[in-house]
Amino acid sequence: MTPVAIVTGASSGIGAATARRLAAEGFHVLAAARRAERLADLVAEITAAGGQATAVTCDITSDESVAGLAEAAAQAPGPVTLLVNNAGGARGLDPVESGSVADWQWMYDVNVLGTLRVTQALLPALEASGSGTIVVVSSTAGLTVYEGGGGYTAAKHAQTAIAGTLRLELCGRPLRVIEIDPGMVKTDEFGLVRFEGDAERAAAVYAGVPGPLVAEDVADCIAWCATRPEHVNIDRLVVRPRAQAAQHKVHRV
Ligand SMILES: NC(=O)c1ccc[n+]([C@@H]2O[C@H](COP(=O)([O-])OP(=O)(O)OC[C@H]3O[C@@H](n4cnc5c(N)ncnc54)[C@H](OP(=O)(O)O)[C@@H]3O)[C@@H](O)[C@H]2O)c1
Repeated sequence: MTPVAIVTGASSGIGAATARRLAAEGFHVLAAARRAERLADLVAEITAAGGQATAVTCDITSDESVAGLAEAAAQAPGPVTLLVNNAGGARGLDPVESGSVADWQWMYDVNVLGTLRVTQALLPALEASGSGTIVVVSSTAGLTVYEGGGGYTAAKHAQTAIAGTLRLELCGRPLRVIEIDPGMVKTDEFGLVRFEGDAERAAAVYAGVPGPLVAEDVADCIAWCATRPEHVNIDRLVVRPRAQAAQHKVHRV
């Protein structure tokens, strides 16, 4: 039977690239996000390329909506072996002193509680498959802090904490937990969401950087980790562009 992979935040960027890649690896992909039209286009593209995918409109900040995702997983045509918690993002680049509480709330809701909610809902199906994999797409912002990044780094540190805690708690059961921590990835929407649609500010993040990561690079890492033999748990994979030695050390030309 075709194994089923669930990818949240599949309507753009890393999630869309991961959905394409996992479909090419032979998974039936449940592509989840809020924007149904985008998901429909993605599913059409995957299907045209010979893969299998189903769109599931889902808001990971809603219990009811996530219950719908679990229901879709139960109806899927095979065992649910992989969950990629990818949906998330940043809002704002303000200092802690003046950061917006609403922005911090949004970042916590989506990155942290969204991951918690979806993981809780899908764990029974993942375990029932006999060999389940949970991927958490955190960030290098989950490992270190930087000025202006207080709200995002706090949320990503919390996501990283979920991955580590879950691995301890699930030890002895047929489940593995993998954390992916990308550095700078040039995706179309991440910066736009962070800077409220300000395209110039979003583009400035990548200005002059020779070879930032692209979504497909991260999808490649996720697919590699998820397709290792089932006894192999890649705990954490940190991936940055060569031009970014650290959060504060970026080579620009
Ligand atoms: N780009 C980077 O530099 C970078 C670096 C490290 C880590 N990351 C992490 O990688 C992940 C993907 O980032 P990206 O660059 O691909 O960003 P992106 O293109 O903005 O994608 C974010 C995805 O999350 C979905 N999403 C947002 N809120 C949601 C909600 N309430 N319910 C369901 N889905 C929701 C969005 O879909 P809808 O709007 O359709 O719901 C979208 O598909 C994020 O967790 C991000 O923090 C990114």
